[in-house]
Amino acid sequence: MNYAYRLWNVHTGKAHPFNTAAPAIDHGTARPTPDRYFDKDFAAAEWEKVFAKSWLIACPVSDIREPGDFAKFDIGPESFIIVRDQDGSIKAHYNVCPHRGAQIVLSDHGSVGKFSCPFHSWSFGLDGQNIEVTDRETFQPGVLCHDLNLTSVRCEEAAGLVFISMDPDIQPLKEWLAPILPHLELYEIEKMNVVQHKRSDWGSNWKGGVDAFAETYHLHAIHPQTQCLMDDRTHIDVWPGGFSRQFVPFAQPSRRFEDQESVNPGIQMMLRDAGIDPETFTGTAKETREAIQNAKRERAARYGLDYEKFSDTQLSDSCVYSVFPNAQIGLHPEAVFLHRFVPHATDPNQFTYDTCILYRNIDAPGFVPPAWMGLGAEVDLTGDTRPDIVRTGLGEPPELGEVLDQDSELLPIVQAGARSRGFRGPLWSDQEARLRHFHATLDAMMAAD
Ligand SMILES: [Fe+2]
Repeated sequence: MNYAYRLWNVHTGKAHPFNTAAPAIDHGTARPTPDRYFDKDFAAAEWEKVFAKSWLIACPVSDIREPGDFAKFDIGPESFIIVRDQDGSIKAHYNVCPHRGAQIVLSDHGSVGKFSCPFHSWSFGLDGQNIEVTDRETFQPGVLCHDLNLTSVRCEEAAGLVFISMDPDIQPLKEWLAPILPHLELYEIEKMNVVQHKRSDWGSNWKGGVDAFAETYHLHAIHPQTQCLMDDRTHIDVWPGGFSRQFVPFAQPSRRFEDQESVNPGIQMMLRDAGIDPETFTGTAKETREAIQNAKRERAARYGLDYEKFSDTQLSDSCVYSVFPNAQIGLHPEAVFLHRFVPHATDPNQFTYDTCILYRNIDAPGFVPPAWMGLGAEVDLTGDTRPDIVRTGLGEPPELGEVLDQDSELLPIVQAGARSRGFRGPLWSDQEARLRHFHATLDAMMAAD
C-alpha cells in the first residue's frame, strides 16, 4: 500500500528530496528474544558495540554558537563537554580531569574562557590542552611526562546538530547521515533555538522509548484523543544505517474515526493555527488538511518565508525521522522536536527521555507557533535566553502534555511485561516496520566482532 504518496504533491514541480524513494529493505519475519529489554549483559555489550561505535546527537548547534560556549552531554556511564573553540571549530572531550578523574563541567550549558577542574583547579583550554597544573613543582618530572590533556572524541556538525562519537575510526558524519541529510537540511535547524527542554526518567529500557515513538499503531488505544485530528495508518521509509521516517497527517481524522465530515474542535484548532477562521470554513474534515497547506503557503508568501522548498506534507503533517540509535526528530517548518532516549548508566530497566523544542523565530506581527506545540505565553521565542532543562525523576509525572504523559505511564507496564518468562519477543506488523528496521540494525552491530 502506497497510500502516503497521495499525501503530497510538489507545487514547484521540481525534484524534491522528499520524493526520493527509499530502498526496499526486507528484514523478514523473525521474532527477537526479549532479553534485549532487560538483560544487563546485553546492555553492557550494547554500550560497547552500539553506543561506543555510533554517531550520537550531543546538542543543537544553537547551544554553542560563540567561542567558549559549551554544553554538557550525558549518556549511559559517560559525560562529554561539547565546546565552540576560539577558532570557531567545535570540539568534544570526555568530561573527566586527567589528574584524578573528577568531572570538570557540572552545569548543562555555559560560556567560559577555559575549563577548570573543581577538585584541584587544574585548567584546560577549550581545545582540551592542559594550561596549568596547580603546584606543578610538587610533581616529579616523570609524572608530568604523562598526557595531561583532556581526552577528546570525534565531533562533527550536520543539519544544525552536533554529533559526537567515541569511535576514532568512525566514518565521517555527513557520509553516514547521507540518506536523510538533504531532508533534514531543508529545515535550517541551525537557525532555530531551544525554547523548551525537558528531561525525565522513565521506568523502561531505552529501546522501549524508541519503539513507542517509532509507530502510530498504538494511538487508537493509548491516545484515543488524537483520532479526531491525525491519521495513524501512514507511509514509512527505511534506509541502511538504521534511519527511518514516517509521515503523520495532521488535521485529518484517523480512518478508524467514525465522523469523517465534521470539523471537530481538534481540527478547528489546527485551522486557527494556519490563520483560517473555523466559523467561516465551509469544507469538511476531509478538506481541512489541504486548506491548511494552502493557507500556510499564502501566509509564507506574506511573511517572505521560503516555503516553496517544502512539499505539502511537510507543511501540514508531522514528518518524523529516526536517527540511529537513540534519537527521533519531528520536523515542521516552524519548529523541530528533538527526542533522545538516553540509556541509564547501569540499569537496563530505566532510561532518560530528553526532549527539546527548537523554534525558528519569525519576527513579524501576528506570527505565532501552532497552538498544538504547547509553547505558552511564558516561553521566550526569540532565542535570547536558553531555557534551563526542567527535570523530573522516576515515577513523577513528567508533565510533557497529555499524549507524552500517557506514554510515560504505559512504558513501565510494557517493561514489566517484557521481563516475564511468558513473553517470547515482539511480533511486528508492517505498521511497526521502523521498529523491525531499528532492531535489525542494532542486531547487526551486536553481531559484529
Ligand atoms: Fe504514544
